[in-house]
Amino acid sequence: MSDTAFALAERDLAQKGFLDVDVDPTLDLFEEIEKLKKEKNAIILAHYYQEADIQDIADYVGDSLGLSQQAAETDADIIVFAGVHFMAETAKMLSPSKKVLLPDLKAGCSLADSCPPHLFRKFKEKYPEHVVVSYINCTAELKTLTDICCTSTNAKHIIDSIPEDKNIIFAPDINLGRYLKKVTGRDMVLWNGSCMVHEIFSHEKITKLMIRHPEAKFIAHPECEPHLLEKADYIGSTSGLLRYTKENDADTFIVATEVGIIHQMEKASPNKTFIPAPPNNQCACNECPHMKRNTLEKLYTCIKYEQPEITLPQWVIDQGVASIDRMLEVSAKAGL
Ligand code: 13P
Ligand code: SF4
Repeated sequence: MSDTAFALAERDLAQKGFLDVDVDPTLDLFEEIEKLKKEKNAIILAHYYQEADIQDIADYVGDSLGLSQQAAETDADIIVFAGVHFMAETAKMLSPSKKVLLPDLKAGCSLADSCPPHLFRKFKEKYPEHVVVSYINCTAELKTLTDICCTSTNAKHIIDSIPEDKNIIFAPDINLGRYLKKVTGRDMVLWNGSCMVHEIFSHEKITKLMIRHPEAKFIAHPECEPHLLEKADYIGSTSGLLRYTKENDADTFIVATEVGIIHQMEKASPNKTFIPAPPNNQCACNECPHMKRNTLEKLYTCIKYEQPEITLPQWVIDQGVASIDRMLEVSAKAGL
């Protein structure tokens, strides 16, 4: 590619969210990415909701907790985050001296967006004595207003770690918050945010599927709405759902979370059947449009040109990282 073409692509980066340069269609991207990883001492961390090829090329595939633990521990010089913006921000906060790359800066999160920090700051002022627990699916700035973060894997442990005499605000996911109130018995003040993917599942279509497959287990992520969770045989984080499908004797599962996780379920249990829970319309809305902004081509250009890079103001790192460190400490004590 000419220097001028690259300069133009670089100029467009902020607007497009990714480095829009031509990729030679004859390249074996798997081989090229492997080469670049070694050359640059880079690690690729991928969430279970990424497309199958990205999961297959990643050094580590996992849930939000596992990804944070990897980001904190890695000795790679470059972390390429195949996930969404808040996840890459978390990696940057945990490893501020490393270069953290995200293939597409516009890979955001409807849940993180549903809790703007300036509004949350006002909300929090009404409850000055409350401990703030935030689901890690929130912006870096929200983490500066948070006492302790959690993920869906460790949320119960995190809530249980807070002394009984302390009141709690839980943000931003109202569905996870309601579920946690039920399983912990704690009365929490909830922020009214939600994930667009986990709220789109059709109760009616899932009921029909359950009638058609009476032997199937219905499993759901706690970001789903309460009326769906009530029907679930198992509720858990992505890693929890994956583990359940490996350990349970059933051979059919109706899966209510983003469909990307089914790639790992099928790899782990090739003889079992996984039915994605259907959305309440005809589109592919059980795919997270943010997660799916990342592609193998963007991953390749991102690692090759080391852009787009995640940068954060120093004050955000300084004031926000304690909430993630506390979460990792509680998780380590709980053996998670
Ligand atoms: P976990 O993988 O931690 O369950 O999170 C799910 C999710 O929605 C990530 O965006
Ligand atoms: Fe955010 Fe939902 Fe997408 Fe996860 S699945 S990144 S919570 S919008």
